[in-house]
Amino acid sequence: VTGPHKTALITGASSGIGAALARKLAAEGFHVLLTARREAQLRERKAEIEQAGGSAEIFPLDLSLEAARQQLFEQTGARPVDLLVNCAGFGWYGYYAEMTWETIHAMVAVNVEAALHLTRLFLPGMLARRSGHVIVLSSIAGSLPSQGTALYSASKACLDAFTTALYRETRGTGVEVSLVRPGPVKTEFFAASAAQTNGHRNPVEGSGVSVEYAVERIWRLVRRPRRVLHIPAWAALAPLFEIATGWIQDWIGPVHLRRRTK
Ligand SMILES: NC(=O)c1ccc[n+]([C@@H]2O[C@H](COP(=O)([O-])OP(=O)(O)OC[C@H]3O[C@@H](n4cnc5c(N)ncnc54)[C@H](OP(=O)(O)O)[C@@H]3O)[C@@H](O)[C@H]2O)c1
Repeated sequence: VTGPHKTALITGASSGIGAALARKLAAEGFHVLLTARREAQLRERKAEIEQAGGSAEIFPLDLSLEAARQQLFEQTGARPVDLLVNCAGFGWYGYYAEMTWETIHAMVAVNVEAALHLTRLFLPGMLARRSGHVIVLSSIAGSLPSQGTALYSASKACLDAFTTALYRETRGTGVEVSLVRPGPVKTEFFAASAAQTNGHRNPVEGSGVSVEYAVERIWRLVRRPRRVLHIPAWAALAPLFEIATGWIQDWIGPVHLRRRTK
């Protein structure tokens, strides 16, 4: 779906991967629709894009709310969305037993429900036009059910299964569906995760690839769609890692988590 006069809707566009991808897509000629909760950051992103000669609209809203997602669909309804990037999401690190129900509910609503709902809202239009691309940001955490990230891993495992099956359902329709599974990327993600109630610092914080690298890879995916993109390429080994060394993790993991959450 590349080329002029195409429209991309990017969730989680106020920071990190979503913000950088929005800039890239706008620089490549897309009209970008940016959504997230923080209005001031969205305004800044829009101003940066416009200064660089691109065009953007902002939709500040909380994607954990069903009514807000429906409202987003209605507000963008006049413009067919060619590319939907489900990027909004957040993490939490610590013992599941210490996660508040509020955070649990919000994580399911943002990481899972919002992607499922927005895809359900925008996909029929793409199928009718026989053109479009849905991208879902998952994580290698989806195949690494690690101590400390029980619900985050589960939320991404759900996206893995959903997006892979949807890719198979839509083959030959003219609509592309892709799953993106990054390893750690240096963004605000880890600070946002630790800032949640009872959240701790994640041990992988500070490691990983740059957001620019991640966005270059996703841009390549937009140009040449495929079922799954791992960032970096070795992240494709994550499921094998769990199969081969999961039993070691059973022993070392609990000790590691206890130390990290002291
Ligand atoms: N960074 C990594 O290491 C990494 C690795 C693998 C996968 N991922 C995935 O990549 C995606 C982007 O993460 P990132 O690294 O770019 O982190 P980030 O900088 O923290 O960005 C997360 C985005 O999600 C939005 N968001 C969170 N809660 C929301 C809500 N209730 N309603 C609307 N928007 C909401 C945030 O905006 P507001 O706060 O303004 O609402 C923000 O724009 C996530 O799905 C994450 O799970 C990240």
